[in-house]
Amino acid sequence: MNDDRKIIIFDTTLRDGEQSPGASMNQAEKLRIASQLEALGVDVIEAGFPAASDGDYEAVKAIAETLEKAQIAALCRANEPDIRRGWDAIKDAVNPRIHTFIATSELHMKYKLQMEPAQVLKQAVESVKLAASFTDNVEFSAEDGSRSDRDFLCTVFESVIDAGATTINLPDTVGYAIPEEFGELVKYVMENTSNIDKAVLSVHCHNDLGLATSNTLTAIKNGARQVEVTINGIGERAGNTALEEVVMSLKTRPNFFPHTTGIDTTRIYPTSRLVSMITGILVQPNHAIVGANAFAHEAGIHQDGMLKNPMTYEIMKPETVGISKNSLVLGKHSGRHALNAHIQTMGYNLSDDELKVVFKKFKNLADKKKSIQDEDIEALINEGVLRSSEVFSLEYIHVLSGNTVFPTASIQLNINGRPVQGATAGSGPIDAVYNIISKLTGTKSELLRFTISALTEGTDAQGEVTVRLKEDGVTALGKGTDPDIITAAALAYINGLNRLEYLKTNPPKEQALL
Ligand code: KIV
Ligand code: ZN
Repeated sequence: MNDDRKIIIFDTTLRDGEQSPGASMNQAEKLRIASQLEALGVDVIEAGFPAASDGDYEAVKAIAETLEKAQIAALCRANEPDIRRGWDAIKDAVNPRIHTFIATSELHMKYKLQMEPAQVLKQAVESVKLAASFTDNVEFSAEDGSRSDRDFLCTVFESVIDAGATTINLPDTVGYAIPEEFGELVKYVMENTSNIDKAVLSVHCHNDLGLATSNTLTAIKNGARQVEVTINGIGERAGNTALEEVVMSLKTRPNFFPHTTGIDTTRIYPTSRLVSMITGILVQPNHAIVGANAFAHEAGIHQDGMLKNPMTYEIMKPETVGISKNSLVLGKHSGRHALNAHIQTMGYNLSDDELKVVFKKFKNLADKKKSIQDEDIEALINEGVLRSSEVFSLEYIHVLSGNTVFPTASIQLNINGRPVQGATAGSGPIDAVYNIISKLTGTKSELLRFTISALTEGTDAQGEVTVRLKEDGVTALGKGTDPDIITAAALAYINGLNRLEYLKTNPPKEQALL
């Protein structure tokens, strides 16, 4: 079909990525990520699972109505209500796609669906027919495809293509496949699905054995022309194939992979940072392409080689993925125009009102910190723009601590537009702050994890705190940054509580449906 060299990039950060524990996002956050994915050059954005909750439906609808270029996919189980709801959410997109799925492995059909193969086949075909009555852009996924009977899989694919599917997706749902075996399966499907020339074959790999990217690349070698990926590889359990790994493998090894993508690779790093900031899921330092150490050369022999010729140890240039070498940027005297120009080079486009908020925060920070770096600016954008319309926000915080005093914290919060103050003690300053926040908000969450790190170098660096909270069986991540680490801890806790509030009305999908 069309250009056989082009690999279609289908990003599911907002759907499968959101199924990472604690990664739920609100509508504004999803819209922000969707716009960034469009600017990155993603072909298809899976915006969510509209039948999962009203919140998901609204977010998918807002994305469909806002984006101008990318295809917008809605995930739907293979049943009529899901497909109607999914279509309703995406029908105003420039190019909407219905993505419907049903499991095809013995194990899933027998125990999860409690259906006979013939019933599954019938339901798959009927669902695709219904979807195709709304749009000619229909994707069908055979869930647990890699553990399905090969011939049954080909029969299902053949039948759904006849029913109107234009993309068929072969998922390695549980991350069980081994590259050689998965490559053979893709080849088998290509050779034994008689009408495969009428559809694009896609793959969707999970990373339970750390093989998601290898499986995806092997699938491309064997005929897959769409890959389903997420930013930073986030997703259910061990995650999905990372977009950055596949795209940069294709770009770095063109002789081996004579393929192209529509991705503007210089936007990879800003997108990775944005997703990490919004979801609160940190990128491990040694993560390929986007980890903090991905381009760091510690060993003397490597540094020597790099000075003589960067190609000795560097297979990609950091600038190619949008990591600017010159990250030291602005200071106290920089104006709004300079700030905005720099924010744009970082891959963000802020409205005038958003810029006003970020500029004010920038000036406050510049009073406390000599040089402002990219990481600081990202944190300001996160705190100032991405966290609008929250239930709880911090107005002020005063803390007394030291080795000869009893730690106490007094705080004023804004709760649904109303100022509320209080003070209490704790075993340490953070315990005191968390005790009073929990009392003022009337929440009873359990703190499962607390991490703190410096955002940049130097003793005047901002502290970055990440917390994982649990309340009534639901977990949420929270993130906060500030030069004062106790304030950063308070902001992270409040952010986590806001996410838990959101989840009360929008239950996470893994608990709701999948
Ligand atoms: O992993 C999986 O099988 C999925 C499908 C819904 C495509 O996410
Ligand atoms: Zn998946």
